[in-house]
Amino acid sequence: MNLSRCYTIADLQRSAKRTLPKMIFDFIEGGAEEEATLRRNRSVFSEITFQPQYLRDVSNRSVSTTIVGTRVGSPLIVAPTGLHRIIHPDGELAVARGAAEAGALMIAGGFSSYTLEEIAGASSGPLWLQIAPWRDRDVVMGLVERAHRAGVLALCLTVDTPVVGLRERDLRSGVKLPLEPTPTQVFDALRHPRWLARWLGARDLEFANFRSLRRAGGERGAGSMAHVTHDLIDPSKTWEEVRWLRNVWRGSLVIKGLLRTDDARRAVDEGADGIVVSNHGGRQLDGAPPTLEMLPSIVDSVGDSVEVFLDSGVRRGTDVVKAIALGARACLVGRPFLYGLAAAGQAGVTHSLSIISNEVDRVLALVGVSRLDQLDRSLLRVPSEWGITSSPVSTDTPVPEHAEEGFD
Ligand SMILES: Cc1cc2nc3c(=O)[nH]c(=O)nc-3n(C[C@H](O)[C@H](O)[C@H](O)COP(=O)(O)O)c2cc1C
Repeated sequence: MNLSRCYTIADLQRSAKRTLPKMIFDFIEGGAEEEATLRRNRSVFSEITFQPQYLRDVSNRSVSTTIVGTRVGSPLIVAPTGLHRIIHPDGELAVARGAAEAGALMIAGGFSSYTLEEIAGASSGPLWLQIAPWRDRDVVMGLVERAHRAGVLALCLTVDTPVVGLRERDLRSGVKLPLEPTPTQVFDALRHPRWLARWLGARDLEFANFRSLRRAGGERGAGSMAHVTHDLIDPSKTWEEVRWLRNVWRGSLVIKGLLRTDDARRAVDEGADGIVVSNHGGRQLDGAPPTLEMLPSIVDSVGDSVEVFLDSGVRRGTDVVKAIALGARACLVGRPFLYGLAAAGQAGVTHSLSIISNEVDRVLALVGVSRLDQLDRSLLRVPSEWGITSSPVSTDTPVPEHAEEGFD
């Protein structure tokens, strides 16, 4: 794969589509039900435009920042997604190395296809672990202890999955674990020899963190999709789970999947260090709002008490700059790095993150600031129906000649 000819995330997406069997591409790409939220996740970003300011010295720029106390070289976070080996045999190991090379923090998915320890050992980059309020606290506790030993900095608790969203593309393609390919799927795989060659050399696909449970559980063990959907996920869980986790985990805690101000404030009250405004990339509730629209009120409701992150639909540097100007600390990306992984393994992951980071750097210059912490709402034009104040850049207050930085 000639990555130098992939200039945008859309280029990498096309490459991934060519490389992967349709069933696998659709598993990554798809959203819930009619995919209305999935579509809005993209279109919402163009509802906001910029009010750039010029003749500021933007010659010396940086896209580095701190994320819950960790210095990182990029405002992008690798979102937790499961089963990377379904895309490339190096799976999460390639993602960990690729993210570290791009200066980005990685959130390992609990449903990873390599173990947490293997992922932590693959790179020295900052690592968080995603978990969920699973039914069995012993299972969660086991991962909490492993996370502690593996040097994981934060736990990311995903709360928007009391049940799995209805992903109709997956129903139609029949993708499931263990993979028991139908004749149509075999034909699909044969038409994608690059993926097939990688796949044939790979070991069994499984939810590696739950391997030991599978052995105990026999056929319908914790490594299988059936176990995950039926046995692990527990729709009866409440905020009590957050309180329990806060007590047993001494590292940072980030709650992922919030879309309301009252839930955000509750997360703060329960001791979270960060929240991710997310609709799970449009894969859970179809009809959930686009996250960018919910971000300002959530940021305002929690003030400086926690860091707020955003995901779902981020594909461009302009998207990241808009989110940060509205108060996000950084953005998570899901599908973009998965496209990169499909296109070219580790190098593809780095390339996908670098594309967006380089765009962020350029956009900073074009809106007239040098650092991410200089972004604010005055640089944006936000539709009035969003109900937030986007104070216009002052045109009648000249920047004093002696000011070192004219961005206040
Ligand atoms: C293939 C795939 C698998 C995912 N698996 C998980 C998961 O196991 N846990 C989780 O919290 N989020 C999961 N997500 C959601 C991502 O963490 C993230 O919220 C979403 O991908 C962001 O949207 P984007 O793909 O438009 O960037 C998954 C997303 C995709 C695309």
